[in-house]
Amino acid sequence: MRITHTGHRWQIIIFSFLLTALWVSSQLPALAQAPIKENEQCLTCHSNPDLVVEFPDGSTASGHIRSVAYSQSVHGQEAMTCSGCHPNHQEYPHPAISATNSREFTLQLNETCFECHPDQADKVQDSVHAQAMADGNENAAVCVDCHTAHTTLSLHEARREIAATCRQCHATIYDEYATSIHGKALFEEHNTDVPTCIDCHGVHNVEDPHTAQFRLRSPSLCGSCHADEALMSKYDIPTDVFETYVADFHGTTVTLFEKQTPDAATNKAVCYDCHGVHAILPMSDPNAIANSKENLLKTCQKCHPDATTNFPDSWTSHYQPTFEKQPLVATINLFYLIVIPATVGFMAVFVLSDAGRRVLTRRNHTAEASQPTPNDDKKAEDA
Ligand code: HEC
Ligand code: HEC
Ligand code: HEC
Ligand code: HEC
Ligand code: HEC
Ligand code: HEC
Ligand code: HEC
Ligand code: HEC
Ligand code: HEC
Repeated sequence: MRITHTGHRWQIIIFSFLLTALWVSSQLPALAQAPIKENEQCLTCHSNPDLVVEFPDGSTASGHIRSVAYSQSVHGQEAMTCSGCHPNHQEYPHPAISATNSREFTLQLNETCFECHPDQADKVQDSVHAQAMADGNENAAVCVDCHTAHTTLSLHEARREIAATCRQCHATIYDEYATSIHGKALFEEHNTDVPTCIDCHGVHNVEDPHTAQFRLRSPSLCGSCHADEALMSKYDIPTDVFETYVADFHGTTVTLFEKQTPDAATNKAVCYDCHGVHAILPMSDPNAIANSKENLLKTCQKCHPDATTNFPDSWTSHYQPTFEKQPLVATINLFYLIVIPATVGFMAVFVLSDAGRRVLTRRNHTAEASQPTPNDDKKAEDA
């Protein structure tokens, strides 16, 4: 009997414990998801795909917010509420809006991003896009053009999507890039070693690429990868191309200017004058600007208008000269490679041995002069 009694008590205790646990666990998600509840309120209307927001000038925007996409966005995952960015929309009818068209509305609301992301907001201030906007071009990129307002994802690893964000407004350049050695590798082979738009232009602080500074700096930009032995050996591309460029008549001036007068314009060739900018082709492509003699001559003629067929031959191109390609230059190089060190070496040996001989002779002289005499020994013994 007693045992049964205790058994009952335990059953009651366990039962009420379970009930409490059940109640608490049923409340937990509600507490954690409090913001989601609020979002659900907005979404009772805004999940309607036909909801349209109309602006005074007649332009429209879809008022449909896809709730799944929102909850998967970086902000949805932070359980951010709609009112975090729309503090004045808790009630319906919503207060009247001041924007007269949909772009103006976007530009106004875009400023909500600045508060939580001040670093990016600062950088954008100095960009070509902000400059174009200040000059009255409302189509220049702002945060939500590249990131969207409600389906924001991290772009860090998404190198292909980055080019797609630029494509919205720079479609022609995107298409050129897509056919280039770099773009093809990115889009067709998912290769992330190649540059995408922002590696050359920057992200939030995209600068004017037509300045003298940008031009002078561009060889180091290409060189950041093309002079990287470990990276380039993966593709069997010689890093000579960078070193030989820096050492030749075009590159020496460009690199000197970059260090000493970075604002001075240069008419010397930089990498992209010969290889193209967005449509850089692989050497194997017959249309590669620097591949056939004809293409090459045309390239040189852009700046050397009097150049004739033989002109490019005056240049050892981009490689350390080899016996197959430039036997004469290679032989001369080899000649210098052997004769100069040999001459210097011979001179060094001569000078050293001469100096050595002199030192020895002098030592012998002094040694003879200070040879101890028998008298010296005697004096020591006497003392
Ligand atoms: C009862 C339905 C309803 C609810 C609830 C609702 N909205 Fe709206 N909302 C609309 C409609 C309809 C429009 C279209 C323009 C209009 O009629 O004001 C709109 C427009 C908007 C706009 C565009 C700007 C504007 O004012 O026109 C924003 C932003 C917005 N809603 C945010 C929200 C947020 C945030 C919530 C939740 C806190 C919310 N809405 C709740 C119906 C609703
Ligand atoms: C991170 C800030 C942010 C959050 C969070 C946010 N919005 Fe927006 N919303 C914006 C911005 C910026 C715009 C204007 C940009 C645009 O037009 O795409 C906008 C525009 C809108 C519009 C007008 C239609 C349109 O796309 O221009 C509606 C409706 C709207 N938001 C509803 C919502 C609802 C509902 C939620 C919550 C589920 C929400 N927003 C959460 C920033 C936000
Ligand atoms: C109330 C603060 C807040 C506002 C407003 C806000 N964000 Fe965020 N944002 C966050 C938080 C928190 C994260 C997640 C943590 C992080 O990565 O910084 C985030 C993450 C991001 C990321 C991903 C960062 C990454 O690491 O890749 C982007 C992009 C972004 N926000 C863009 C925007 C844009 C565009 C707007 C305006 C429409 C905006 N944010 C408005 C708080 C905010
Ligand atoms: C021209 C397109 C573009 C514009 C405009 C833009 N972003 Fe970005 N943003 C990007 C890209 C691309 C990345 C990814 C960068 C990377 O992977 O290095 C990024 C990265 C971010 C990140 C992650 C952290 C970081 O700095 O890498 C945040 C946060 C962010 N942006 C917020 C903003 C805000 C806020 C604005 C407006 C003030 C803005 N962005 C304007 C394209 C843009
Ligand atoms: C919403 C549209 C839009 C998006 C998205 C956009 N841009 Fe722009 N961009 C512009 C406009 C508008 C200008 C100024 C007009 C012009 O010179 O083409 C501009 C100018 C530029 C310039 C300077 C052009 C010049 O001739 O001085 C560069 C470089 C540039 N953008 C790079 C980018 C990159 C890289 C991205 C992606 C990360 C990007 N843009 C995304 C609209 C956009
Ligand atoms: C390998 C480096 C590199 C990559 C990758 C690159 N650009 Fe450029 N871009 C340049 C250079 C260098 C210039 C300046 C060319 C000149 O002055 O003739 C330039 C110029 C521009 C301009 C100015 C307009 C023009 O025709 O001169 C825009 C806009 C632009 N790039 C956008 C983009 C976009 C969008 C992408 C990605 C699809 C991209 N760039 C990828 C190096 C690059
Ligand atoms: C005066 C024109 C010119 C300039 C400037 C120039 N190149 Fe070249 N580049 C060429 C020519 C021509 C070839 C092909 C040579 C050959 O096949 O004999 C070439 C070949 C290359 C190759 C392919 C090498 C291989 O064998 O696979 C790369 C990579 C390259 N250049 C990168 C660069 C870089 C980076 C710069 C700037 C630092 C640059 N080039 C500057 C004309 C130029
Ligand atoms: C972020 C690194 C990076 C930058 C910056 C870069 N490249 Fe490349 N480049 C590569 C890689 C990686 C390859 C090889 C791609 C492949 O073969 O799939 C390549 C291939 C090439 C080729 C083809 C070589 C061949 O043998 O066919 C040329 C030419 C070239 N790049 C020129 C340039 C020029 C000019 C610039 C500057 C305007 C530049 N690259 C900037 C990484 C880069
Ligand atoms: C973007 C313009 C540009 C391009 C393209 C260009 N060069 Fe030059 N190059 C110059 C300038 C400027 C000088 C300096 C001329 C001077 O000193 O008066 C120069 C100097 C030279 C010199 C030194 C001898 C001389 O005439 O002063 C040679 C050789 C040369 N270039 C060969 C070539 C070859 C070969 C090509 C084609 C593969 C080429 N260049 C393409 C601008 C260019």
